[in-house]
Amino acid sequence: MDLAGFEELLTSDGARLLDELPPYDEATALGVAEAARRRGLPDGLVAVAMTQQRLRARAVTKFGAAAGRMFFTPEGLEQATRPEVAARHARRFADADLGRVADLCCGIGGELSALAGVGTEVLAIDRDPLTCAVAKSNVAALGLAGVRVVCADVVGTDLAGQQAAFIDPARRGGPGGRRTFDPSSFSPPYDVVLNLARDVGALGAKLAPGLPHHLIPPGVEAEWVSVDGAVVECALWFGPLASGVARRATLLSGQGSVADLTGDGVDRAPVGPVHRYLYEPDGAVIRAGLVAEAAAQVGGTLVDSSIAYVTADGLVATPFLTAYEVSDVMPFGLKRLRTVLRDRGVGRLTVKKRGSAIEPESLRRQLRLDGPEEATVVLTRVAGEPTMLLVRRV
Ligand SMILES: C[S@@+](CC[C@H](N)C(=O)[O-])C[C@H]1O[C@@H](n2cnc3c(N)ncnc32)[C@H](O)[C@@H]1O
Repeated sequence: MDLAGFEELLTSDGARLLDELPPYDEATALGVAEAARRRGLPDGLVAVAMTQQRLRARAVTKFGAAAGRMFFTPEGLEQATRPEVAARHARRFADADLGRVADLCCGIGGELSALAGVGTEVLAIDRDPLTCAVAKSNVAALGLAGVRVVCADVVGTDLAGQQAAFIDPARRGGPGGRRTFDPSSFSPPYDVVLNLARDVGALGAKLAPGLPHHLIPPGVEAEWVSVDGAVVECALWFGPLASGVARRATLLSGQGSVADLTGDGVDRAPVGPVHRYLYEPDGAVIRAGLVAEAAAQVGGTLVDSSIAYVTADGLVATPFLTAYEVSDVMPFGLKRLRTVLRDRGVGRLTVKKRGSAIEPESLRRQLRLDGPEEATVVLTRVAGEPTMLLVRRV
């Protein structure tokens, strides 16, 4: 979809076609396109409308019912911040009483929608003309007040009059537009983010979860966010947007629950033998370096100094750790595992691993299991030794 095609979609013909297109899949797509063409609509417009309708259908998992009114590009949808996460970002600005915010690299408008939702005046900037057109259409479609979308490079843009800024650099700066994990290859690169923080003072930045801790300046709050166990971002909060803690792990669930754990990210949990329960920390806790803080909640120790599995005798419910009851602890060995699992009639095996190079699929193939029972094996290191734990999720 190019800008001209998208603009055609916004004409009355385009809007009517998009409204009237029935849901379709691969099997029915040709028939739906043919029916639209019989109405005298140009092929190009039919193709753009069908793509938009498919994107709307895909966007429902991220944007819920609002997706049916919104506009997307494939990359814009993939990169947009989900509403529950953007709402938390926006709340930080509102709580700090920052009412005029520049949304830099605004994409199709995930962040700006949430900022407008808390009554913030937003100057939204993106350098891609199609993305800006889509963002403007979303502002109109969602009836957002106080948002101005400007097509420009954020590097060097005058932010005079803004009280704060949020920046969400694109992570597709790798060769051929591939995803990159190197902050200096983000667009704009990480040093632009740090310079902005110096200039603007109050800055929020959404970065990849793998951001190395040593790149985080002192005094900045780094918050790793997971949604239903999947880590989605590392947000940095500068100046008045920082709450005073160095590291935070925020766990959101699709059901709307929120839990957060804070600390300085430097404590290390003690190491000890495997106890009755094995606890697996949420990814946000691990990325934030807060495993020691989570382990303290269950009175636990680590199975190995370099492995983020916690073990304890007691069962304590905490959102930060998933608990498993341990039935067997064995040195790693294929034959041994096969014998134990066959004796128990196990046909289906879940493999969890941390600190082991074994590929779960190839392990399952080599075990050639057959039986009615299910089991979970954890492949890890205990005090440096490759070890297998048979566990059951509590
Ligand atoms: C990760 S997306 C932003 C997603 C957005 N926050 C949202 O929630 O929908 C990154 C965006 O940055 C834009 N971009 C990359 N480099 C830029 C630059 N130097 N100036 C302005 N925009 C830029 C891209 O066009 C892309 O739309």
